[in-house]
Amino acid sequence: MLTVAVLISGTGSNLRALLDAASHPDFPARVVVVGADREAAGFAHAETFGIPTFLVPWSHFDSREEWGAELAAQLRVWTPDLVVLSGLMRLLPADVVHEWAPNLINTHPAYLPEFPGAHGVRDALAAGVAETGASVIVVDDGVDTGPILARERVPVLPGDTEHTLHERIKPVERRLLIDVVRRVATGELDLAAAAAVPPEPTR
Ligand code: GRF
Repeated sequence: MLTVAVLISGTGSNLRALLDAASHPDFPARVVVVGADREAAGFAHAETFGIPTFLVPWSHFDSREEWGAELAAQLRVWTPDLVVLSGLMRLLPADVVHEWAPNLINTHPAYLPEFPGAHGVRDALAAGVAETGASVIVVDDGVDTGPILARERVPVLPGDTEHTLHERIKPVERRLLIDVVRRVATGELDLAAAAAVPPEPTR
């Protein structure tokens, strides 16, 4: 059974979907802990499922490195096989990335390498593209630059706002995340091998 830690900042709808999937007896992974950098609304989902939580408030630390060191210390307590960044709106310091990668994955609401960064949905809308997407990647030292594990196109529709487009992307993001976690757990997807493939150049 693959053990998974999930890090969030927000409402945790992707976390909720993973918790729902992992509650099925046939699913080969279990969420063992949920962490956040703030009092995230998504903690409520962890509580619903009886999953422990930890909070490492960004605002309590003087530097990214000190915050990351505490986050890593909390994660070590749970010795997860896989760490999932599911809407964590902070960049992890490099030493934390190096400690967990390639067993550290991130979901992103765009078709990477298109529209990396914190505003992937807004940036796709501003660019006027007909399609954007959702991706799951291995985290590396860059911003959404790691090897792509799964991605899928999502149409941009006339009249879309950032909210409506994001709400169309999220179900795809959830499905991709659950499928990646399942494939990692069954051994069908080897993260070390995937991480050894050079990433596509950013356009
Ligand atoms: C997801 O689209 C994630 O990729 C982005 O923020 C969203 C998180 O939503 N960075 P939620 O907290 O899972 O509802």
